[in-house]
Amino acid sequence: MTEAKQPESPVLVADRGAVRVITVNRPDKLNALNAATLDALADAFDAAAGDESVRCVVLTGAGPKAFVAGADIAEMNTLAPVQGRDFSLRGQRLMRRIETLPKPVVAMVNGFALGGGLELAMCCHLRIAGDNAKLGQPEVNLGLIPGFGGTQRLLRLAGRAATLELCLLGAPVDAQRARELGIVNRVVAAAELEEETMKIAAQLADSAPLALRGVLDCVNVGGECGIEEGLQYETAQFGLMFSTGDMREGTTAFLERRKPAFQGH
Ligand code: COA
Repeated sequence: MTEAKQPESPVLVADRGAVRVITVNRPDKLNALNAATLDALADAFDAAAGDESVRCVVLTGAGPKAFVAGADIAEMNTLAPVQGRDFSLRGQRLMRRIETLPKPVVAMVNGFALGGGLELAMCCHLRIAGDNAKLGQPEVNLGLIPGFGGTQRLLRLAGRAATLELCLLGAPVDAQRARELGIVNRVVAAAELEEETMKIAAQLADSAPLALRGVLDCVNVGGECGIEEGLQYETAQFGLMFSTGDMREGTTAFLERRKPAFQGH
């Protein structure tokens, strides 16, 4: 693994082949998201989007306890109303940037994913959780509400009953319950979380990038339209695949009974 260590940075970036691992790095604060961390994450995701050698991103938190334990409560405590609104916008812009990244992002949920931490996980395309993870939207306990898209993404992921339960009661759920609610895709033993997540990431990195992008676009754009527009959008994306070398390679490899070698064009 080539590793560019930035000890003072709130975000670490390392490449494992074509998988970029982005780590929120404030373990002494359970990786709470302050403004500087939101900005560093935005830069890291911009760089990942623009780097053709990166085929998949894994997002996680440093240390043994937390993915991200929320927006930084100490920082929020001092904010005036307009600053609070700007903090929400800053977070929402980052979450939308991640959600609309043209390559898959996998959240490796290695412990607490609370408040802004669950919001961060939910804007990723897949969520793999360790069996020690605790997930929730506890903002009401602070006299707050989710501000980085939590009410909207949780509603879309898990429906109205689960969203109202998590956001109104403010109590976290364990990984297994989060799996039952559809909030996480898989739960694995905490000790195997990294290995299992990297297996999934490696599969995505090996897959056809333009096809993955097509799926992401269809879900992100088409999924927010009515059925007619969504289906038309899917058809347009499907047609576009026929212009790619990877589509020729994938179908030819199937016919020749060999493994495809996707090039990303
Ligand atoms: N913002 C700022 N700092 C946070 C934080 C957050 N969201 N979550 C944890 N921290 C800090 C703690 O203040 C503490 O810092 P300190 O050592 O300087 O006092 C450090 O991280 C460790 O947290 P601590 O509370 O001592 O760990 P714990 O194991 O006892 O409890 C949690 C873990 C996650 C239950 C608890 O930290 C918590 O409830 N955090 C807030 C969760 C939350 O409400 N998030 C939504 C924010 S909108």
